[in-house]
Amino acid sequence: KAAPPPEEAAPAVCEEPKSDGPVKEKSVLGGCLSVVVLGASGDLAKKKTFPAIFNLYKQGFLPDELHIFGYARSKLSNEELHEKLRGYLKTDRTDPSKGPEDAIKQFFNKVTYIQGAYDEDEGYVKLNEEVSRHEHERSDDGTPTRRLFYLALPPTVYPVASKRIQKHCMNQRGWTRVIVEKPFGKDLESSDELSSELGALFTEDQLYRIDHYLGKELVQNLLVMRFANRFFVPIWNRDNIASVQIVFKEDFGTEGRGGYFDQYGIIRDIIQNHLVQVLCLVAMEKPVSLDPEHIRDEKVKVLQCIQPIKDEDVVIGQYEGYKDDPTVPKDSFTPTFASVVLRINNERWDGVPFIMKAGKALDSRKAEIRVQFKDAPGDIFKCKKQGRNEFVMRLQPKEAMYMKLTVKEPGLDMKTTQSELDMSYHQRYQDIVIPEAYERLLLDTIRGDQQHFVRRDELRVAWEIFTPLLHRIDAGKLKVMSYKEGSRGPDEADDLNARVGYQRT
Ligand code: NDP
Ligand code: BG6
Repeated sequence: KAAPPPEEAAPAVCEEPKSDGPVKEKSVLGGCLSVVVLGASGDLAKKKTFPAIFNLYKQGFLPDELHIFGYARSKLSNEELHEKLRGYLKTDRTDPSKGPEDAIKQFFNKVTYIQGAYDEDEGYVKLNEEVSRHEHERSDDGTPTRRLFYLALPPTVYPVASKRIQKHCMNQRGWTRVIVEKPFGKDLESSDELSSELGALFTEDQLYRIDHYLGKELVQNLLVMRFANRFFVPIWNRDNIASVQIVFKEDFGTEGRGGYFDQYGIIRDIIQNHLVQVLCLVAMEKPVSLDPEHIRDEKVKVLQCIQPIKDEDVVIGQYEGYKDDPTVPKDSFTPTFASVVLRINNERWDGVPFIMKAGKALDSRKAEIRVQFKDAPGDIFKCKKQGRNEFVMRLQPKEAMYMKLTVKEPGLDMKTTQSELDMSYHQRYQDIVIPEAYERLLLDTIRGDQQHFVRRDELRVAWEIFTPLLHRIDAGKLKVMSYKEGSRGPDEADDLNARVGYQRT
């Protein structure tokens, strides 16, 4: 079942929360909307951005007065852009009475390609003319309009493109919002520089730093699980929890993105952003309310409690065959795997290791949170291996939450065994299609909700945590372990887990 259209989900006009900062704009849900995708010829645009807009549109979340402008340097006609996108638009959630081709055709009527450079005024002047013309045709002159710019571009291009958006394309009749993609810099210094450049052009409430992990269903469920269940509230702390693991695995390598990946490595690509965002939601204190600023305040606080990372708490690796990618230098020592233990120095978490593990070309594709509890004290069952309670939230694939428990093995003997209390989403919510992360986050941007976006100070603390380690790795001070493609990663990572007290159940 699709969620109700926005008119039912929220009032037509909502005031954004008041603050002492710059005057906030109104987020008007109905009316003329222009979405500009810069870098429309690229990988992210075709795989994620356009499909997300299409899905929102076909489900009735976007107004009829919508138009999408693809902008890039490549010489493309409208039809050529449409052909590039066609294979990525899924029609399984389209109104069956209309037929899938109709939905795509209707959508493509709303997609125009504009060719232009990122660092010259001319293209943006033309872009502004086209957007203004659309606004003039689709809305009365007095009514507010909305402009959303999605920077699906390499970050090096953000400053030049942003300057020209600011100079030529700002909306004079309503809000302008800008979505920027990770990586937001390569370390604290470069991230600060990028933040200052963007901060000089746009206010914080115009900037949406996307981390698509925050749009995943189970990540969004974390707040509810932790703070709406009495069951969890009293046990979510160092008295009961032995360790927390946040794991990301992919069963494929860099696949054509080696050139990008080699400059960043797995810590910058996955851990510093996606896994840190998950950690914040697992570890932070209860926010005052669901106001985006209250939530982000708590995330910053818990990040500030993270201790400097020690080398003995880190294992890095590179899969054999990584350097066969022609875009990767033959002498690269960029890690494609890392396991990093973070330690949070506060009353709730002192002594509990948070193991952040991520790797490419491993044995499976999954992302999960594993909260392992301490042993039940005073064992009377004297079983060989009681097994620890573990609460697992599988973010993907096949979203699920399950609790590993020790139970009596059914039968005449008093024997114990491990079993699961299992809530698999595909069984429990059979009729519900879980939205893609990018869909949700695009809709949030249009609604003006920054809860699931990264605030500037949050980004800064995340870089503060990882920058010293990253600089040591870049300087070749940590040994890079080799691991086989399709394996669990280097054995040293399992040794690290065992050393910090994680028990495989
Ligand atoms: P691409 O390398 O495909 O670049 C997007 C477009 O930008 C290209 O089609 C090209 O368009 C233009 N471009 C590329 N290189 C340059 C350059 N050096 N100078 C100026 N323009 C350039 O990037 P992606 O689409 O993969 O990623 C876009 C952003 O999203 C990046 O910040 C990336 O890190 C991030 N991201 C990407 C993900 C993915 O799965 N691809 C996942 C998560 C984040 P043209 O030449 O036509 O102008
Ligand atoms: C991106 C990384 O941010 O996330 C990619 O740059 C990675 O390297 C991707 O493959 C994983 O996203 P997901 O949603 O498939 O887990």
